[in-house]
Amino acid sequence: MNILVTGGAGFIGSHIVDAYISLGHNVTVVDNLSTGDISNVNPKAEFLKLDINDPEISTIIEKRNFDVINHHAAQIDVRISVDNPVFDAQTNILGSVRLYNSAVRSKVKKIIFASSGGTVYGEQIYYPANEEHPLNPCSPYGISKLTNELYLSFFQKVYGTQFVALRYSNVYGPRQNPKGEAGVVAIFTSKLLKGVQPIIHGDGTATRDYVFISDVIRANVLSLNENVNGIFNISTGIETDVNTIFKKIKGIINSDLDAIHGPPKPGEILRSCLSYEKFQRLTGWKPEINLDHGLELTVEFFRNS
Ligand SMILES: NC(=O)c1ccc[n+]([C@@H]2O[C@H](COP(=O)([O-])OP(=O)(O)OC[C@H]3O[C@@H](n4cnc5c(N)ncnc54)[C@H](O)[C@@H]3O)[C@@H](O)[C@H]2O)c1
Repeated sequence: MNILVTGGAGFIGSHIVDAYISLGHNVTVVDNLSTGDISNVNPKAEFLKLDINDPEISTIIEKRNFDVINHHAAQIDVRISVDNPVFDAQTNILGSVRLYNSAVRSKVKKIIFASSGGTVYGEQIYYPANEEHPLNPCSPYGISKLTNELYLSFFQKVYGTQFVALRYSNVYGPRQNPKGEAGVVAIFTSKLLKGVQPIIHGDGTATRDYVFISDVIRANVLSLNENVNGIFNISTGIETDVNTIFKKIKGIINSDLDAIHGPPKPGEILRSCLSYEKFQRLTGWKPEINLDHGLELTVEFFRNS
């Protein structure tokens, strides 16, 4: 297949590019390198340094006859979205709609979208949340992810463009960027390895559902199949709090640093845990890497990089 991966220089996108290339697909990457890194980009992919808001994107999509667009480029930080909702919407809503509009006009067959199960449901009313759980995002980032799903559903109904929205829980693993505010595993690992004081925002009892990158990549590969369409959680169904994540990483690294607790950040929910049963029923997918093993693999990567 001929596939465009947006955000293909980033953490998740670059692993998707590697997987698609290893399966023999022809891959083009569009990324503005705002948080991604060119060294992540597979040399067998064609790389275009471009912002998804650039009108040039339409010309590229029109000319290249992509079968699939896998859309991972985004402003990914919940806290930035709270501080600057216009900036968030500019990329995460307007940039995405531009992309979809061009895709539909160019007869792209399928769009795979990186949605966010950790934010579209808001503070959950039951655990784990399945895809039927009420949608109540409490940050502009979560609103933008839900808005993308609604646009994709519109384009599918009106123009027949197939779509898969993968509602990831918290993804972690090699290549995650430790410089931002998002991604506690990468942040704690990088700081503890460097002997720098880590900070836990809030009391550390906030829980998340941590899914390892290789499991997420398998979901993106399965999403290429013709019979896979719709909205799916990609998760483990297991809740882990931030204090536990910190202790586990500290143990693997054998660090003697303890975290300092700072004030909680607005726009972040307290608990999150998602059911992956719907995707499992359709594809047989289930997470294969447990948290302890995934953290070891992540520490090993950061140690060697
Ligand atoms: N990491 C997670 O836990 C998680 C959870 C749910 C959803 N997601 C979604 O998955 C996707 C990838 O996230 P990630 O964790 O790999 O983050 P990332 O920052 O590593 O990847 C995002 C990539 O998009 C690029 N980008 C950002 N704005 C762009 C723009 N305007 N034009 C072109 N390129 C742009 C960045 O340079 C980067 O390479 C995002 O859509 C994110 O919202 C991630």
